Amino acid sequence: MATHGQASFWAQANALLRKNLTYQRKNIWTNVRLVLVPLFLCLILLAIQLLFDSLMNSVSDKCGTNNDFQSTDCPIPNPPLLPPMLAIPQPKSRAVKANFFPYNDLPLESCRKTGTCPVTILFTGSNHSFGKALSGNIFGGSFAVNTSDLLPSLAHNVLAATQETGDNNYADPAISKDFPVYNIQPQCSPNSTWPLSFGQTKTAVKCVQGLSLWRNTSAAINDELFKGSWRGNPERLTNEIAAAYDLLSTDGKNFNVTIWYNSTNTDGSSGQRLVRVPRLISLISNAYLKFLKGPGTSILFQFVKEVPRHGSKSNTDIASLLGPLFFTWVVLLLFPVILTSLVYEKQERLRIIMKMHGLGDGPYWMISYAYFLTISFLYVVSLVIFGSAIGLKYFRINDYSIQFVFYFIFINLQIAFAFLVSLVFSKVKTVTVLAYILVFGSGLLGSSLFEELLESPSFPDIWILALELYPGFALYRGLYEFSQSAFRGNGMKWENVSEAGMNKLFIIMSVEWLVILIVAYQIDQVSSSGRSIFFCFKKSSSLSSPSTQRQSSDDGVLIDMEKPDVAQEREKVQQLRKEGSTGHAIVCDNLRKVYPGTDGNPKKLAVRGLYLDVPSGECFGMLGPNGAGKTSFINMMTGLLKPTSGTALVQGFDICKDMNKVYTSMGVCPQHDLLWETLTGREHLLFYGRLKNIKGSALTQAVEESLKSVSLFDGGVADKPAGKYSGGMKRRLSVAISLIGNPQVVYMDEPSTGLDPASRNNLWTVIQRAKQNTAIILTTHSMEEAEFLCDRLGIFVDGGLQCIGNPKELKGRYGGSYVFTMTTSSEHEEKVERMVQHISPNAKKVYHLAGTQKFEIPKQEVMIADLFSMVEKAKSKFTVFAWGLADTTLEDVFFKVATQAFSSS
Ligand SMILES: *[C@@H]1O[C@H](CO)[C@@H](O)[C@H](O)[C@H]1NC(C)=O
Ligand SMILES: *[C@@H]1O[C@H](CO)[C@@H](O)[C@H](O)[C@H]1NC(C)=O
Ligand SMILES: *[C@@H]1O[C@H](CO)[C@@H](O)[C@H](O)[C@H]1NC(C)=O
Ligand SMILES: *[C@@H]1O[C@H](CO)[C@@H](O)[C@H](O)[C@H]1NC(C)=O
Ligand SMILES: *[C@@H]1O[C@H](CO)[C@@H](O)[C@H](O)[C@H]1NC(C)=O
Repeated sequence: MATHGQASFWAQANALLRKNLTYQRKNIWTNVRLVLVPLFLCLILLAIQLLFDSLMNSVSDKCGTNNDFQSTDCPIPNPPLLPPMLAIPQPKSRAVKANFFPYNDLPLESCRKTGTCPVTILFTGSNHSFGKALSGNIFGGSFAVNTSDLLPSLAHNVLAATQETGDNNYADPAISKDFPVYNIQPQCSPNSTWPLSFGQTKTAVKCVQGLSLWRNTSAAINDELFKGSWRGNPERLTNEIAAAYDLLSTDGKNFNVTIWYNSTNTDGSSGQRLVRVPRLISLISNAYLKFLKGPGTSILFQFVKEVPRHGSKSNTDIASLLGPLFFTWVVLLLFPVILTSLVYEKQERLRIIMKMHGLGDGPYWMISYAYFLTISFLYVVSLVIFGSAIGLKYFRINDYSIQFVFYFIFINLQIAFAFLVSLVFSKVKTVTVLAYILVFGSGLLGSSLFEELLESPSFPDIWILALELYPGFALYRGLYEFSQSAFRGNGMKWENVSEAGMNKLFIIMSVEWLVILIVAYQIDQVSSSGRSIFFCFKKSSSLSSPSTQRQSSDDGVLIDMEKPDVAQEREKVQQLRKEGSTGHAIVCDNLRKVYPGTDGNPKKLAVRGLYLDVPSGECFGMLGPNGAGKTSFINMMTGLLKPTSGTALVQGFDICKDMNKVYTSMGVCPQHDLLWETLTGREHLLFYGRLKNIKGSALTQAVEESLKSVSLFDGGVADKPAGKYSGGMKRRLSVAISLIGNPQVVYMDEPSTGLDPASRNNLWTVIQRAKQNTAIILTTHSMEEAEFLCDRLGIFVDGGLQCIGNPKELKGRYGGSYVFTMTTSSEHEEKVERMVQHISPNAKKVYHLAGTQKFEIPKQEVMIADLFSMVEKAKSKFTVFAWGLADTTLEDVFFKVATQAFSSS
């Protein structure tokens, strides 16, 4: 059969596409599940929304009870009238005499024990006597109230509270049965407390002494207020002043006052305490009025009242509220899926095995990209459809075409980004963990940090754009803008796209997508075929002076005793290289692989300067103990490993420079089967056949022949998924794959391991038939296989060829002796030995035990006939239980070579 030439880009793409379609069709449920994930998530969102709504409804049902004022959702058509009060410190923290105050007019500290400390209000101004007059008017007399005319009568008293105000001004927490309201008076008679009913609430009014003190300057007041707070003085004492007035230049004509008041709640929030402040103003105004018009005059400050409120029955749109974070996660969830899928193909070496059979990077990228794009697209479409279907405003209100553009650009960016990241990693586990951290981290950082920055007016726009270079934040930004539009209820339209900053986002993402895609593709190219840059330039120097390298200390010992056959192979290769001949299928020129030493171990020479020439039509067998470097060698030849120095030509193409061209004429049967569990044997072969550019009926025929030749055709085996195959069947399929399309060069790494004798013989016939137009390099542990299949053999020990030649030659060279065994009773041992010595003085006894002896007899010293007659003679003299004569086997050669090499190194 002729070869079919190199498959075109489209033929490769077609092959991969068909394989992937078959593969994905078998994994259809995985895909469907993935596409349905948004449905589940939308349903979860819906459930949360419904839960939230019903919770809110049940809360608003309670409106009408006493708790009305606390729930922000209850309507308050008639807010209550609240008596205005002053805020005063707790009894224990009211100002008393202290070291850090230079004033003697404050009360003694002992008042704290009895709870009778007065409430201090400070005054200052430009006219002391005027100030004295005003401050004397400020507090009223004894508590008096007309219960049938409550608020106006309360307004005559100076009421005060130590309780803070609540969240709103619809209720005053100070009015409660649990603690008193204070009435500030110039003097208190002991235990003066009055009951007071305020609406349904019964409380008590308690007298507290008010102290108005004069200070010379406003700076002095400031200082006193400052030090009065516990942080303000070295003794860390609380010494609080209730309030202070600066009367400035107020006189009979001008009224001009500054008021110090405390607006802090204990929780640190300020504001909302204004219900306590107006009374301070009314106090000083009334004092001034009294000063001007006499004691009977006053303006009554009867009540404060908040504006009526509508109930804000919850229509909180959870989707818009949680939207950006939630949907960032939902959309980013695709990232781990894509990334792990890419890294999985790398980890399982599926990508490289496809590449070895001629799949170019271009078709691989195109088809993988198209698949990820399709699945991402379906995923996002399903998100938008389901989201809209369950009525999320988030999706419904924003223009669908904007959403389409946004998601489309983003999923492209995400795929490109995944391709880029996948280049760095080779372990699925690592990459899975990393990807999920990235997904959740992006969401959380987006909502906690990026959103803050977005909303902060002082954060420069340019930095926002810079942050959006990170795809996770770009996604967050877009979703955030959608949610804002949904929240405001106007929806995003193309007219206001630029307002929301979406147009810049689109540009950033598109440009980034293009850049990342190109960069990732380039890196992929360089990392897979650009090793020439780093590795192969050493080649020319090593070729011109092979001897210099041979004397280097690490491999000197072995090369010193280079065998003539190995030397001959080297000369042949050097001759070929000098002539520039390209006709030979495989020419290895001083191929070396050194693994760098790690953790203080010395560096390891896996392959030391290998010269090898394998012409087309030859099967070259590589024998050697485990760890000799055979697999390193095969890996270099198949492009899995980069040679440390030296190179090899395959069909005239350099494996350092033109690996991609080498791949088109190569077949590989790796040591471990690299198969897709769900694809059948036939589908595997169809795929690889198409990669080898076999088309139409020729393809069907080739696949069928191939299946038959490895006996996978009968009994429907060909149409069972490879995952169900036994080890031997997988092995045979791998061999069939390596041979399909008649590649010029085939590497087989222990092809018949684990096969039963029948299938092994079968396989051998296949390989033998295939080798007519093909150069095959095969490693094996089976001498039988080597002898049967290989035209030439090389024994590979400790990184170098120890000998090379066809099996017969080798046996002749290294064997050169018969093995003679004889078993007698033990008293005749000596006789036997003497007889053997007699016919062959150089015979060597290699083994003896209880009458059984084994000799090696050099071939040139004996005729077989002599041996037979010797046996006859022996039989006549004593009993011979058994005897045998054998030619040396390849196994003997192997042991000999291997042990020689080891003992000499
Ligand atoms: C201070 O106020 C009193 C009234 O209390 C007034 O008689 C007096 O003239 C004022 N003094 C100054 C310097 O304005
Ligand atoms: C209390 O107020 C009512 C209504 O304004 C008035 O008729 C009554 O005289 C007042 N009682 C006293 C003791 O002032
Ligand atoms: C305040 O001023 C008066 C009179 O000018 C003076 O006697 C008094 O010492 C001053 N008080 C302080 C604390 O400076
Ligand atoms: C202001 O009021 C709060 C709350 O009652 C209190 O904790 C704080 O100590 C007061 N600050 C001053 C300086 O009086
Ligand atoms: C009130 O006092 C301030 C500060 O002394 C002064 O700047 C302002 O002109 C005064 N206003 C009146 C109306 O006297």
